[in-house]
Amino acid sequence: MAVQPSPLRVVSARAAPAPLLQVDGVSLEYRTPERVVRATHQVSFDVHAADRFVLLGPSGCGKSTLLKAVAGFVAPCEGEIRLEGSPVSAPGPDRIVVFQEFDQLPPWKTVRQNVMFPLMHSRAISRREASECALHFLDKVGLANFADAYPHTLSGGMKQRVGIARALAMRPKVLLMDEPFSC
Ligand SMILES: Nc1ncnc2c1ncn2[C@@H]1O[C@H](COP(=O)(O)OP(=O)(O)OP(=O)(O)O)[C@@H](O)[C@H]1O
Ligand SMILES: [Mg+2]
Repeated sequence: MAVQPSPLRVVSARAAPAPLLQVDGVSLEYRTPERVVRATHQVSFDVHAADRFVLLGPSGCGKSTLLKAVAGFVAPCEGEIRLEGSPVSAPGPDRIVVFQEFDQLPPWKTVRQNVMFPLMHSRAISRREASECALHFLDKVGLANFADAYPHTLSGGMKQRVGIARALAMRPKVLLMDEPFSC
């Protein structure tokens, strides 16, 4: 008589890791004297470390506003956004945004200086280290040869890639990108 092996059971005593980012019942509004525009209504989702999480929806459904809220630029009128369990109440270097708008690079700074700028203002780092770090991330987005160029000499997509290099160089906990490959 054949003996059936008992089915394998895997039991883990470890709890599931806590989410890195929690968006919990978040409603966002724009108030003007004439009207109130509700940009999102009770949106909830969790994002775990190393997740690539995509917000999809039609134009005007609130994607950019939600990213701005996660970044701390817009406060929810309902619900809460938490990063590592702590409520988000203001912008911070742990959440960097690559905005949807093209003109996010100060035009009087070179590409390399644009990437160096937030590094030098948010942490104790020498100019030489910031410059090397900027060049490293510009190389990652294929723009090492444009380090000394000014933004007005770049295409829309190249400007977007500088924004991505600048964000990556900050090594944020959450990188928020608003249609970064749209051009
Ligand atoms: N500064 C603002 N003042 C008033 N209303 C705004 C403002 N910015 C956005 N809105 C409104 O909020 C809603 C959501 O806009 P949002 O930019 O978040 O949409 P979106 O999903 O990013 O759209 P798209 O795909 O076109 O970029 C829209 O109805 C828009 O009119
Ligand atoms: Mg948008």
